[in-house]
Amino acid sequence: MPGLEQMIPRTKKEKQEQQASFAQKIELAFAEGRSRSVGTGSTGDVRIISSKANETEMPWVVKTRTDEPPSHAKAGRTFTTEWKMHQKAYAIIAEAAEDHPGMYATIPQPIATLESSTAHHMILEYVGGKTLFEQALQYLLIEGADEEDTEKIRKMNQKELVALAASPANIGIFDIITQINIRWALKQPSLAATAITEQNFEEIIEKAQSRYNGAPLLSAAQCRQLESTIDLLHKHGIAHADFHPSNIMIRDDGSMAIIDFGLSKTASSPNSKLRKEDLDYLKTYKKLSL
Ligand SMILES: Nc1ncnc2c1ncn2[C@@H]1O[C@H](COP(=O)(O)OP(=O)(O)OP(=O)(O)O)[C@@H](O)[C@H]1O
Ligand SMILES: [Mg+2]
Repeated sequence: MPGLEQMIPRTKKEKQEQQASFAQKIELAFAEGRSRSVGTGSTGDVRIISSKANETEMPWVVKTRTDEPPSHAKAGRTFTTEWKMHQKAYAIIAEAAEDHPGMYATIPQPIATLESSTAHHMILEYVGGKTLFEQALQYLLIEGADEEDTEKIRKMNQKELVALAASPANIGIFDIITQINIRWALKQPSLAATAITEQNFEEIIEKAQSRYNGAPLLSAAQCRQLESTIDLLHKHGIAHADFHPSNIMIRDDGSMAIIDFGLSKTASSPNSKLRKEDLDYLKTYKKLSL
């Protein structure tokens, strides 16, 4: 796949050509099995596709929406608003980061959208690393594991981490009520992957920190990146509005990334409920860095 900077089309014709070539690349990647699913929500899939020619090239993330229930449109949760908000947020943060490298979390570069008769696809820059939720589960599970298991845990995705945390060997880590909820979820195959969710996040952190004698999950610098990014977006009247730990990623180099603008909204007033929600999440993350 070509470098990102080559991808900005100038004319309508160039845009059409680019769309055709993206569509072809994505279809081929799916057909040849060069895609790995990282999320299946109620409205579509999120898949990472890699290039055939050169595996070391940057892969893409393809976020697909197949369905747009009326309730989502009513909540302002449409494909078009997500794409627009993502683009806006990316532009604001990318510009600010030029003057202050390292000060902000990054937002994956929006590359292109593709429309077919049955689905919308959003192509985004791939962020290597893991979500804050995955990081928290790893942090909890690695404590007490031997070297070999630690290696395995580091490579696990969210689904595998949840299964391991909910297994008989580990379930005892959680409070009794959480244990009951986990056992209940595990009895229903469709819920197994969600036996442990972000609702358990604070508990996971608490348990992990007591196991680790209070070592922080995030460094103060990582937490500041999240704070300054949300602060700048708010100053531009944008609330992320879905700032939970699966929408925050820690890149392999330790820098933070903020993803998923699916619920993001214009919120000009400092008293807006959505801006407050973002700030509440920040408070939780700040606790992690102490
Ligand atoms: N740019 C990216 N780079 C790497 N991983 C990503 C990227 N975007 C999304 N992901 C992974 O896919 C997951 C789901 O993506 P996202 O949060 O954007 O979609 P969603 O609307 O929450 O969908 P779902 O309901 O399927 O989780 C994320 O939690 C993350 O693990
Ligand atoms: Mg998400």
